[in-house]
Amino acid sequence: MGYETLNVDVSNHVALIKLDRPDALNALNSALLGELAKALRAAQHNEKVRCIVITGSEKAFAAGADISEMAEKSFIDVFMGDLFGPEVDAILKVRKPIIAAVAGYALGGGCELAMMCDFIIAADTAKFGQPEINLGVVAGIGGTQRLTRAVGKAKSMDMHLTGRFMDAAEAERSGLVSRVVPAKKLMDEALSAAGKIAEKSMVTAVAVKEAVNRSQEVGLTEGLLFERRMFNALFATEDQTEGMKAFVEKREPQFRDK
Ligand code: HXC
Repeated sequence: MGYETLNVDVSNHVALIKLDRPDALNALNSALLGELAKALRAAQHNEKVRCIVITGSEKAFAAGADISEMAEKSFIDVFMGDLFGPEVDAILKVRKPIIAAVAGYALGGGCELAMMCDFIIAADTAKFGQPEINLGVVAGIGGTQRLTRAVGKAKSMDMHLTGRFMDAAEAERSGLVSRVVPAKKLMDEALSAAGKIAEKSMVTAVAVKEAVNRSQEVGLTEGLLFERRMFNALFATEDQTEGMKAFVEKREPQFRDK
């Protein structure tokens, strides 16, 4: 399918979605977010896709929501129009694992989009920030909540209040990203991680995603119970039988998503 603001390629069971508005450093406008929601829905429904990678360009993952598009909007426009609400909901509904591969700027909505993914692999050129305060607003699609959960209150407050950028080393040190690699190796690393995930049982991968995401929503006792029940439930799958049998027989498992 052709998109105006994205390039989408499906190969080796991985959907690679590349944000493509180079003239605006991949600023997230309604068109791009609408197409991203559509591409993610398509990846979710495509049986060939077992993992998704979202990336941008060498210069920018995304430099935030499109300021020119937002500048003229009123409170009623964004409140009653629920600016970006449906698109964000669509991103969060994806049950397959999503990796953000970030090089260059991931600012404002760009940082928030990366944090909506299941984990972030960063190039050493990556710069993260929530500079909305400089525009007279706060983050609007998760920054105050997800960044705080990722890096703690002190650093999150620092980022949101000063609007400063965090480099890749600080982002890794703070737990915002899972790995940092030289920029030239970013896509190899992200696609190789996605390829590894694609080899697992999809049933188990979806369960992992739900269980880890649960930890961001509920208290420890509830979260532990959710995890234990998920662990118990997976004993009803053929993939659990196969996974454990293959280990005992010293061979590679053949998962069938059942
Ligand atoms: C619209 C943007 C943009 C943005 C960059 N551009 N960021 N357009 N919205 N967020 C455009 C510039 O206007 C310029 O277009 C071109 O991209 C290149 O950008 P430059 O500024 O010339 O590049 P550079 O000097 O290298 O600076 C890069 C930068 C800077 C540091 C990333 O562009 C910047 O500060 N951008 C804004 C970052 C930001 O404030 N993000 C948060 C947005 S609010 P022209 O046509 O002049 O070449 C947000 C809220 C989310 O995200 C909540 C939603 C509900």
